[in-house]
Amino acid sequence: MNQFFLFSCTTISLLLIITTSTTHRTPISVERTIDDPHNHRHLLSYNEDPLAAEPWLEFENPRLKNAYIALQAWKEAILSDPNNITADWVGPDPCAYTGVICWPAPDNPCERTVAGIDVNHADIAGHLPHELGLLYDLAVFHLNSNRFCGTIPQSLTNLYRLHELDLSNNRFAGKFPELFLNFQNLKYLDIRYNEFEGGLPYKLFDKHFDAIFVNDNRFSSALPENIGNSPVSVIVMANNMFEGCVPASLGNMSATLNELIITNNGLSSCFPSELGKLRNLTVLDVSRNKIVGGLPDSIGDLNSLEQLNVGYNMMSGKIPTGICRLPNLASFLYNDNFFTEEAPDCSKLPRLDDRMNCFRGRPDQKTDVQCRRFLSRAVNCSSFDCGNSYKPPAPICPPPQLSPNPINGSPSPPVTFSPPPAKSTPPMCQCVKPPPQPANPPPTV
Ligand SMILES: *[C@@H]1O[C@H](CO)[C@@H](O)[C@H](O)[C@H]1NC(C)=O
Ligand SMILES: *[C@@H]1O[C@H](CO)[C@@H](O)[C@H](O)[C@H]1NC(C)=O
Ligand SMILES: *[C@@H]1O[C@H](CO)[C@@H](O)[C@H](O)[C@H]1NC(C)=O
Ligand SMILES: *[C@@H]1O[C@H](CO)[C@@H](O)[C@H](O)[C@H]1NC(C)=O
Repeated sequence: MNQFFLFSCTTISLLLIITTSTTHRTPISVERTIDDPHNHRHLLSYNEDPLAAEPWLEFENPRLKNAYIALQAWKEAILSDPNNITADWVGPDPCAYTGVICWPAPDNPCERTVAGIDVNHADIAGHLPHELGLLYDLAVFHLNSNRFCGTIPQSLTNLYRLHELDLSNNRFAGKFPELFLNFQNLKYLDIRYNEFEGGLPYKLFDKHFDAIFVNDNRFSSALPENIGNSPVSVIVMANNMFEGCVPASLGNMSATLNELIITNNGLSSCFPSELGKLRNLTVLDVSRNKIVGGLPDSIGDLNSLEQLNVGYNMMSGKIPTGICRLPNLASFLYNDNFFTEEAPDCSKLPRLDDRMNCFRGRPDQKTDVQCRRFLSRAVNCSSFDCGNSYKPPAPICPPPQLSPNPINGSPSPPVTFSPPPAKSTPPMCQCVKPPPQPANPPPTV
């Protein structure tokens, strides 16, 4: 039964592919080309309805028609494509476009659908049009190292199958796109090297991400106190403008956290001793902040630690002896602080930087005056009021749904895909109007 089904299924698909590829030879002359003034006129007449495809095009299935509409809208939103990556984005088979990956649809193995887009390092300039929300089956979306700008369209909430999203090294701006937090399958979130601003939503740390890269943006404000709920193995928040406390809850990530990198921000509390619970941590970098107070003895419990960087802060006191006895520690940088007492074992480390502190008898230290002036003021770690920055969640509105208009005379059936199945009741929120309900149930095998 199964074998028969598979056989007929592949036969039908093959037939479909063959018939579509032959029938598509005819309309090749009507492909959208911006250079051709004649065809451009055609294009403009369909522009009135941005969710329509040219009626004379025939598509293998409605999903690929949706993908065609989405990718053509995207192509029009591109201002510069120096490597001609999108030059072959013409015609009714989006699976043949450069950078587009098709697979059998998860809910119907007889239908091909766009499952991935990979235009990494293409140097394309433009923006993301809201039609990209028609790529309902997209699982992988890799845009790294391009010049995409603007904000992330709300319609991308439709991409509920997404599990890898890499927008890094572009020019996206605006607040952290909270719509990413609706993706149940998203494991890998990389938005580093963009111009996102504002705070990180507390909900980010209640999601089951494997890795979070938000470094090199313009994020500011305090780190959410629930950060320790996150099961990530790597979190990189470097080169932003985060301020306030180093959250003590980070210590709750001991089962999973391998790398914690918050260098070059404005964190200004004491160093929480809870960080000593991170037994699997290999890299800890909190350098270039305004952290005050001592380095807790508990850091000497971080048995997996290989690299520790607390340089360029305002820390004082003595270097705990346990740290330099850690079995795997290869690099310990604590330069440019106000430490006064070194531990003898530290000199054996392969890489060490103790310059610009207040160690008597060591070279390249701060002056006596600098040290005395700073150290005369006592540090009160309780005065930072850490642990109270937790904010209750703001509800997220359901996304607007895109549904392409069926075209009169078109042989393809009207395209209606259902939105992601709600796993739980959506939070209450103040929306002007409720989202339209899908007319048809999703296609089933
Ligand atoms: C892209 O296409 C343009 C125009 O056809 C051509 O001049 C240019 O050399 C092409 N660039 C690359 C990298 O192929
Ligand atoms: C997480 O850490 C905070 C601060 O250290 C602590 O109060 C809280 O109980 C911890 N939560 C869990 C679930 O362990
Ligand atoms: C944490 O480290 C222990 C031993 O140091 C190891 O057995 C365990 O697999 C590690 N866990 C993770 C999630 O890396
Ligand atoms: C430290 O700060 C806390 C909170 O502001 C205060 O209650 C306490 O008295 C201060 N301790 C010292 C020694 O100044």
